[in-house]
Amino acid sequence: MNELYLARDANEGTARLRRAAPFVAIGTASIVAGGLIAGATARHPTEHEAWAVAFLVLVCGIAQIALGLGQSLLATTVPAKRTIVAELVAFNAGCALVLVGTVAERLLVTDAGGALLALALVLLFRAVGSASIRASWAVNLYHALIAIVLVSIPIGLVLAHLRVS
Ligand code: HEM
Repeated sequence: MNELYLARDANEGTARLRRAAPFVAIGTASIVAGGLIAGATARHPTEHEAWAVAFLVLVCGIAQIALGLGQSLLATTVPAKRTIVAELVAFNAGCALVLVGTVAERLLVTDAGGALLALALVLLFRAVGSASIRASWAVNLYHALIAIVLVSIPIGLVLAHLRVS
């Protein structure tokens, strides 16, 4: 079994975790926002509110934290700052457009959000190549999570179109 990645030195370990920090921070804030919306709408949640809570917790929260940490710990080299910025902007602008577009029933906005999310997932996929010397089970798990979220984008968009039309 490939040896799990051990930070070559503390500096590199710190640099890697620093690259993961914005994903963890925004992801955690999304989970808290989901919880607050669930609490505030608990008495009579609409379908969109219930969906928005699930989307905030699962995609904007858990998936973002797992992919941000995964990329930082599994990438062969510490990801460049501009790559991280591009991923964060595409992922979170994508999430925001999907949320606003779905709740406001503006399909073009939802579709644009789905496209931006797909772009973020392609960037995150490329950051950890399958040739990585890291533990292959961890790299496979990381790629599988990206595939699950990527596949759920067109499914969600079709559901939104079926709902509105
Ligand atoms: C792990 C990931 C995901 C899971 C488990 C999931 C699950 C679901 C489920 C169960 C529904 C149907 C909800 C209902 O009947 O009201 C749904 C709807 C939807 N999903 Fe996802 N989804 C995931 C990821 C995504 C992603 C990445 C997108 C981004 C485009 C997305 C966009 C949507 C949209 C737009 C709807 C329709 C909401 C509505 O019109 O009310 N989902 N999703």
